[in-house]
Amino acid sequence: MKNKIKLTDVLKSQLENRKTNGGYRKLKLSQEGLIDFSSNDYLGLTKVEEIHSNSTCFVDNGASGSRLLSGNKKYHEETEKFLANYFLSDSALLFNSGYMANLGVLSSVPQKADTVLMDELSHVCIKEGVRLSRANYFNFKHNDLHDLEKKLKNIESGNKFIVVESVYSMDGDEAPLREIVALANEFDAEIIVDEAHSTGLYGETGFGLCCDLGLQDKIFARIYTFGKAVGAHGAAVVGSKVLKDYLINYSRQFIYTTALPFHSVQVIHNALSYRKRNPHLLEKLNANVSLYKELLTDHINILESNHPVQGIILENADQAIEFSGYMNENGFDIRPILSPTVPKGKERVRICLHAFNSEEEITTLCHHINQYFQ
Ligand SMILES: Cc1ncc(COP(=O)(O)O)c(C=O)c1O
Repeated sequence: MKNKIKLTDVLKSQLENRKTNGGYRKLKLSQEGLIDFSSNDYLGLTKVEEIHSNSTCFVDNGASGSRLLSGNKKYHEETEKFLANYFLSDSALLFNSGYMANLGVLSSVPQKADTVLMDELSHVCIKEGVRLSRANYFNFKHNDLHDLEKKLKNIESGNKFIVVESVYSMDGDEAPLREIVALANEFDAEIIVDEAHSTGLYGETGFGLCCDLGLQDKIFARIYTFGKAVGAHGAAVVGSKVLKDYLINYSRQFIYTTALPFHSVQVIHNALSYRKRNPHLLEKLNANVSLYKELLTDHINILESNHPVQGIILENADQAIEFSGYMNENGFDIRPILSPTVPKGKERVRICLHAFNSEEEITTLCHHINQYFQ
């Protein structure tokens, strides 16, 4: 029998590879006292007492089973009606996270003879979901309509899908949704949009970019996640009644898991209602984004974005780590984003602005950034 390398040694050697490449990951608690410029809690909803305080029910807390068995409760069905209404659609289906929602749609909806074209900067759960389907798939260059068109032209048969994020999680830029809808019309393709970083942030009520542009009826499936600007957890797939019925029957990520418990669903409901009643939060957030952009000096290698996600590109992983360390020492919670989360050579810090950041905090933040890059 051939000598076998011990599993632990294989894993250790993979970890060493990460250390050599500068991409080793460690769990790190948010340091007490640092100012939050890192979380996706863009509107500060994780800390609003009225959203979270009435979210426990001592009669029926855990859902106790899959939605298809004992886990389907009135609060799921009522919240799904509320979500369909909120996101201007016929139906909504809750998933336990955005990761699972993307996996659920993309692994089950495209069929074997179909082709999926996805933006190369799509989140890993989109890529993973498409890989799990039996469809053909290709990346197109980030936000590049010519490349997308060229690839659409090459598809000879089967249904075609275009998959994008409305706002890209690491770059903060938007997909050109109107143009994508026009191409989809021309080539008879279906569109799936992950609205993770636009949920809560676009439109008077926070119903996301597709609705804000009035494109909701042109999109086959929209995925809204509640762990970011909504300050909660979980996700919903929004689309037609047929899509919902199909996912209930074919999405393994929906079927074979315990349903979201009462408190999670209640917090989603409370948070979106709160968001709707408080449009000023978005105004404050947008003002903070503008202030940040105004105060940074010109020569810094920023990613162009009007979203609270603001990236600064560094030369490599070590520099991204060094810069975020410098910002931590100066009192700011800022994290480096390394390959493979972002492409090699595009290592960065991802600065997230919030509605709750004060003018003084942003001014001091920009002062230190400017000083570092002087
Ligand atoms: C674009 C995008 N889609 C999906 C997800 C996953 O959502 P969740 O955190 O709810 O699993 C994320 C989270 O990082 C994301 O950035």
